[in-house]
Amino acid sequence: MELLYKKIEEKDKEQLFKLIDIVLGGLPDQAHFIPYEQWELDSMLDEFKKEFNLTEYKVCELGGNLVLPEYRGKGITTKLQTMEMKLAKELGFDYIISMAHPDNIGSCKTLERIGLEFVKETTLSNGFLRKLYMKKL
Ligand SMILES: CC(C)(COP(=O)(O)OP(=O)(O)OC[C@H]1O[C@@H](n2cnc3c(N)ncnc32)[C@H](O)[C@@H]1OP(=O)(O)O)[C@@H](O)C(=O)NCCC(=O)NCCS
Repeated sequence: MELLYKKIEEKDKEQLFKLIDIVLGGLPDQAHFIPYEQWELDSMLDEFKKEFNLTEYKVCELGGNLVLPEYRGKGITTKLQTMEMKLAKELGFDYIISMAHPDNIGSCKTLERIGLEFVKETTLSNGFLRKLYMKKL
């Protein structure tokens, strides 16, 4: 199977929304995915930085991965996150952080495989239980 990694364009919008509906509608537990909009993302990253004791650093968060069920387990997320980590380093970020629900095996596995280290398990202010992972770039 040949995979094409590309940035999403305006014309991909409908397909993207369909992907979001399918994946989020089929989650084994809704707590596996934190739904957020841009303003929430902005304030969340500040909270995440505090949780990791990284407020002084330029920090990039890996997250929001959605793969259709029939394409899972083929290394798509592992490869994408490896590319994202390389890009973050090129862009001058100091740390990569990420978090996953403890029962979300696919998420935890990909983060550990690309070299992030488990920091701690915590409940975020929005009530979501998460395993926190980080890596110095
Ligand atoms: C999490 C997710 C993005 C992973 O994507 P992916 O492209 O399948 O990931 P990869 O193929 O790179 O790696 C997943 C690994 O976890 C394993 N895995 C996934 N679910 C598993 C389960 N329930 N039990 C055991 N292993 C599991 C896969 O077998 C694979 O390991 P392997 O290569 O050693 O076989 C995908 O499962 C998904 O879209 N989940 C629903 C949305 C979600 O929860 N997103 C994460 C929140 S940010």
